[in-house]
Amino acid sequence: MAMLIKNACEILTMKDGIGVVKDASILIENSRIKTVGKVKTDKKKLETINAKNCVVCPGFVDSHTHLVYGGSREDEFAMRVSGVDYEKIARAGGGIANTVKMTRKATKQELYNQGKQRINNIIKHGTTTVEIKSGYGLSTPEELKMLRVINKLKKDSVLDIIPTYLVHTVPYQMKRRDYIDLVREEMIPEIAKKKLAVFCDIFCDKIAFTKKESKKVLLKAKEFNFKLKIHADEFANVGGARLAAQLNCTSADHLLYTTKSAIKAMKKSGVIPTLLPGTSFFLQIKKKPYIKAYKSTECPVAIASDFNPGSCMIYSMPKIISLACIVYGMCVEDAIIGATKYGAKALDLFDKIGSIEKGKQADLVILCVDNYKKIPYYFGEDIVKYTIKKGRIIYGKNR
Ligand code: NIG
Ligand code: FE
Repeated sequence: MAMLIKNACEILTMKDGIGVVKDASILIENSRIKTVGKVKTDKKKLETINAKNCVVCPGFVDSHTHLVYGGSREDEFAMRVSGVDYEKIARAGGGIANTVKMTRKATKQELYNQGKQRINNIIKHGTTTVEIKSGYGLSTPEELKMLRVINKLKKDSVLDIIPTYLVHTVPYQMKRRDYIDLVREEMIPEIAKKKLAVFCDIFCDKIAFTKKESKKVLLKAKEFNFKLKIHADEFANVGGARLAAQLNCTSADHLLYTTKSAIKAMKKSGVIPTLLPGTSFFLQIKKKPYIKAYKSTECPVAIASDFNPGSCMIYSMPKIISLACIVYGMCVEDAIIGATKYGAKALDLFDKIGSIEKGKQADLVILCVDNYKKIPYYFGEDIVKYTIKKGRIIYGKNR
């Protein structure tokens, strides 16, 4: 059935910047956007949504999450707020290793049920496409278990879910060189053969893998036709962003310590830098990404949630947009574009989603605000009125 969204105060098309079209409507046919602006239609069967006093935005694209995991880490949270830092907890066997233990203990069904619940939650906050990483298994059977859960969620969900195999850390009691060999010789070929992931990602940082190790792993993943991502320069500048540029990764994420010259290199090779302000906020990290350099080099920037049980328990993209402005000092327009258009580019999906234009998939979010600057400003409110996926309402409330 066709759908008409009428009387919107603003439609954020993402054309030439944020692309505001005022007092306009959208016609959707066969799950795609047909017309934006003034709509004339003689369709008899037409579902109509009155978007009076509302802003319509492309559905949020959360291009970086760790949404499937077992257990929870509130004890570490309590330690952190009383002064112990994330790195120290990680080095003492907490952190990722802690979630690995709990994820290994969980059955596939338990991980699936919890994942499904979290997906239902993100839909209420306007996310229509989400990337989900493995990385809490750290052995071939356990990484396969996580990826199978992610793929089952993908199959059953109304959202587009993009699975990523994440090489997260060296498992307890294993030599790092042996683990790298296992990843390269067994895990990558096995995951590729079973077609369980689109991307391969690696945590390249001083508390995880070196640049050299990361390069070895990503080159092998490339051989097996994975697209590439990298967790880069979060706790130190170890050259992760440069490596992303060298290997033409689709995105490089975190980037707190990334320098201007590395930003230029990423821009040149078409890497989408992806900033994760929720993590900086949740961990109270003082170091900030070099926002001015992204601006002066005209380098596009995506923002994502990094939702995970340790370093960021925030999955609401409107909140992430607020934090990009408040914590990183991004301008409102760049934050919104980062959560839609460039989020789509960070997943290599901009041909399908991430903007409101004729022919694109009708993934939209209708927000209870009358101008877009109120999106980050209404930090304490849930502003999502309707979430629309492929032209169908998947969440909605009457106000
Ligand atoms: O992206 N940086 C590495 N990995 C995750 C944290 C995972 C965890 O603490 O469980 C992140 O922030
Ligand atoms: Fe992450």
